[in-house]
Amino acid sequence: MKFASVMGGIVMVIGSAFVLPAAAQEGRGDVVYVPTPQIVVDTMLEMAKVGPKDYLIDLGSGDGRIVVTAATRFGASGFGVDLDTYLLKLANQNAQKAGVTGKVHFVEENLFTTDLSRATVITSYLLPEMNLKLRPKLMSLKPGTRIVAHDYHLGEWDPEEQRELVVPEKKVGTPGISYVFSYVVPARVPGKWQSLVNIGGRETPMEFNLQQEFQEVEGRVEIRDRGVDLRGRILGERIRLVAGGRGGVPRHEFTGQIGDGSITGTVIIGEGASRQQAAWTAKQVQRGQLKRASDEQ
Ligand SMILES: C[S@@+](CC[C@H](N)C(=O)[O-])C[C@H]1O[C@@H](n2cnc3c(N)ncnc32)[C@H](O)[C@@H]1O
Repeated sequence: MKFASVMGGIVMVIGSAFVLPAAAQEGRGDVVYVPTPQIVVDTMLEMAKVGPKDYLIDLGSGDGRIVVTAATRFGASGFGVDLDTYLLKLANQNAQKAGVTGKVHFVEENLFTTDLSRATVITSYLLPEMNLKLRPKLMSLKPGTRIVAHDYHLGEWDPEEQRELVVPEKKVGTPGISYVFSYVVPARVPGKWQSLVNIGGRETPMEFNLQQEFQEVEGRVEIRDRGVDLRGRILGERIRLVAGGRGGVPRHEFTGQIGDGSITGTVIIGEGASRQQAAWTAKQVQRGQLKRASDEQ
């Protein structure tokens, strides 16, 4: 599925989003209640690779199906928040029926003020403008936290994966179709970093100037006083940067694990039979801001 076609779908459905049959439970707050079809719930949890170690929070939890399924099928724990007391009661009853009250619960809380710091997985089925309002808070979560959103994406933040499912019983949004978008909160690297890389017995100083927009990184690295553009990507706490490969500068591929003010990994220099590998550690010497200031919290 091309992103453009998803965007097209979204533009089409915004006007008619979440129109409900009159008799249905309506929900309370910033968006009406529409349950996520069970096949979509299962797909969302699979895409987030939910497991027994996970702590999942569903923002606007309705009848609790996402949180209860995370517990019954995937062994996770967590909670859901909603403002509708009828739905909260129903969700707690559903948890009881499923025998998972020891793992999950549901609380009356505004999703915009809920403490998300314990989450390893966040799920949502909210309107586009709500997703955008939540985005700085989501970007500030622990690196590696997975976010799965039903039907509406998080704007300019490029999803790691997106799926389109045929769901004949779905009557709202794009009838018969559900979109699912999954994201991984990236560690933050903007700023200046320094390394001393031992290449073939020779210590080579490198200085990186990194800019970051969501999980995308770009900038420059000075290698022996020569500036080279670089580009890369972060997945949770893992980073991959590529520099050089033309203009007489050999290709440098850096991969590593981002810690607090440090990166530890390897660099591969050159290509083919002549390529060399060396240990790569970098220390942050100056912190910068995300390129998109509105995503800073
Ligand atoms: C589209 S439903 C999704 C329900 C459930 N997450 C699912 O996917 O089946 C959105 C839910 O969000 C709740 N809601 C709306 N605004 C909210 C807010 N500001 N805080 C908490 N819950 C909210 C509504 O009551 C409704 O139950």
